[in-house]
Amino acid sequence: MPSIGIIGLGRVGCTLAFALARAGLPLTALASRDQAKARRLVKTLGRSGATEPAAVAAADILHYADLVFLATPDDAIATTCAALPWGSAQCAVHLSGAQTLEVLASARRRGAAVASFHPLNSFPASDPGSMAELELRAEALKGSYIGLSCPDAGGAAILEEIAASIGAGHFYLGEDQRVLYHAAAVMASNFVTTLLSTSAELWRQLGIDEDMALRYTAPLLFTTCQNILTLGPLAALTGPLARGDLGTVQKHLGALDALLDNSRTATLYRALAKATLPLALAKGTIDRGCADELLTLLQTEELPCVK
Ligand SMILES: NC(=O)c1ccc[n+]([C@@H]2O[C@H](COP(=O)([O-])OP(=O)(O)OC[C@H]3O[C@@H](n4cnc5c(N)ncnc54)[C@H](OP(=O)(O)O)[C@@H]3O)[C@@H](O)[C@H]2O)c1
Repeated sequence: MPSIGIIGLGRVGCTLAFALARAGLPLTALASRDQAKARRLVKTLGRSGATEPAAVAAADILHYADLVFLATPDDAIATTCAALPWGSAQCAVHLSGAQTLEVLASARRRGAAVASFHPLNSFPASDPGSMAELELRAEALKGSYIGLSCPDAGGAAILEEIAASIGAGHFYLGEDQRVLYHAAAVMASNFVTTLLSTSAELWRQLGIDEDMALRYTAPLLFTTCQNILTLGPLAALTGPLARGDLGTVQKHLGALDALLDNSRTATLYRALAKATLPLALAKGTIDRGCADELLTLLQTEELPCVK
């Protein structure tokens, strides 16, 4: 296993550092634009019982590590990579879902192997000084899948070993598959967040705050996820669209259209309801005629509120 370094100690950089160190992998160097942050993370790793990596400047990291994860925002990967003096014994790895290996072209031109290692999960925060938080995030990494791209067979074997050591599975992605793959990930995570935030806004109209709304909604959310994962989306789909309850959908639309700030929520409801119709048809619980009636209803703007 080559020595490992990480540049960029944000949400994924800190989590990965903790997971690698906890797995006993040779994490030798961490580089941050904020030295105090890097030193804080080194201390936390030390307290966790891991060997402490060096806190170094990004420009020096290749003196300490042969495999370097570039854990910067997507738009900064290419410039961060281009600033380093890569050699043929080294490997540059980015963590982006949507970016191809082209952003690492500067390292490839200097003979380094290039790869991407995209943890298919959501890492919303990281405090380099908090072992409890890093443990929590590293637990999420454990059991996740890593979307890998690595044309170099030796590099691929090493990255597979790293994934397995931190408890993650892996799959391979073609360069031309990455953007759609990442859009799929956004649908499964970011947009679920948007939907729940929108749902909480509706609860607020009833005088119930976000905390309580999320508490009340949690069993519905968990059961829905469990049903989707165990039964598949078709079998998991319930509700007025799957039942063909036109009257209920009409009431929803009237109530949403009557909200003072209606346009965003009502537009979202209409778009998602339209996207749900093919699923309801495929499920076989509504027929084409009912789907057409629902579609006409959904295409009607500003329905009167029906109590
Ligand atoms: N967050 C997620 O859920 C998630 C999931 C899977 C994959 N990813 C991928 O992981 C990578 C890192 O994402 P992240 O969410 O960890 O981002 P992040 O929290 O914003 O952290 C990125 C870190 O990069 C450094 N940085 C910021 N701007 C920079 C710049 N202009 N030039 C050089 N370094 C810069 C900063 O670290 P220092 O202050 O230490 O320099 C910053 O904390 C991205 O490629 C992202 O697509 C993220």
